[in-house]
Amino acid sequence: MSLRDALRVPAAEITDEPVYRDRRRLLAALAAVPGLGLAGCGKAAPPPPSKVVVTPEQARSGFRTSEPLTRYEDVTTYNNFYEFGTGKGDPSRADFTLRLKPWSVAVGGHCAKPGVLALDDLLKGVTPEERIYRLRCVEGWSMVIPWLGVPLADVLKRFQPTSKAKYVAFTTLNDPKQMPGQRYPALEWPYREGLRIDEAMHPLAFLVTGLYGKPLPQQNGAPLRLVVPWKYGFKGIKSIVAITFVESMPFTSWNDAQSSEYGFFSNVNPNVDHPRWSQKTERRIAGTQSKLFAERIPTRMFNGYAEQVAGLYAGMNLRKWF
Ligand code: MTE
Repeated sequence: MSLRDALRVPAAEITDEPVYRDRRRLLAALAAVPGLGLAGCGKAAPPPPSKVVVTPEQARSGFRTSEPLTRYEDVTTYNNFYEFGTGKGDPSRADFTLRLKPWSVAVGGHCAKPGVLALDDLLKGVTPEERIYRLRCVEGWSMVIPWLGVPLADVLKRFQPTSKAKYVAFTTLNDPKQMPGQRYPALEWPYREGLRIDEAMHPLAFLVTGLYGKPLPQQNGAPLRLVVPWKYGFKGIKSIVAITFVESMPFTSWNDAQSSEYGFFSNVNPNVDHPRWSQKTERRIAGTQSKLFAERIPTRMFNGYAEQVAGLYAGMNLRKWF
């Protein structure tokens, strides 16, 4: 059996809508998956729930939105993952070359308890959650995605960052055999990203291991990626192998590629245009068979999460620190 076949999820195992909407059963199922599941394929799709039930408390916290979900097949076939090609369809068409087991993450830098941990151990004891977040790409398209994962802060705190840990740096796997796109100099490999420590500790910052109740497909950043919903999508680094507490603002791949276009903070901001296009509006991936994009909608400050995160940037000039 090829690896591709081994990773294919049989139709009978795909969570159907009533089960998917039953949060308690979903979480119980998740708890039974070691390391929250390490392999996904994602060709077949469960139907998106027609109506997501969101409590007022979840909405206030920003943890869930009742906006229509982007279809599973669009979330998993319209991707940016340059390690598997620069076209939107390249990552989902690529062979399954990532070796997901064993997968370990090196956590180090300014912390009391550094270590190299198997993914299962990294996530041990942290309760998995589902979060429904908007994803706004710097390119001007957006999606609404039900992610599975754990709060980033819950994982980071266990390593006991010291007072010198002002930022957190994240690194993607660096292996052209597993990530064939790294044979080409599209970016300075490995892909790297970073957050200020208070951003990383914010309850909305999320370490993701799955979507739509299933393990994360390779094209979406298996087995572990970052999701920071108030920032442009490129901050959401995929296939993470290292997390490092650092004292100064770390190197980030897109800032390195074009610093005048991609700032370190990259907060979604309709008032600060990209030098080559407006950021005032966005095209939601529509979720219909005939049309990929819906009509343009206004982009919201911090991608609609201002109530939760504006305080992180009080007094900061967001034009300078874009
Ligand atoms: N992480 C790595 N390692 N390589 C990438 O090319 N692309 C980023 C981000 N994370 C990227 C990455 C960009 S530009 C976006 S918009 C999101 O992943 C896209 O995530 P998605 O494909 O799951 O929608």
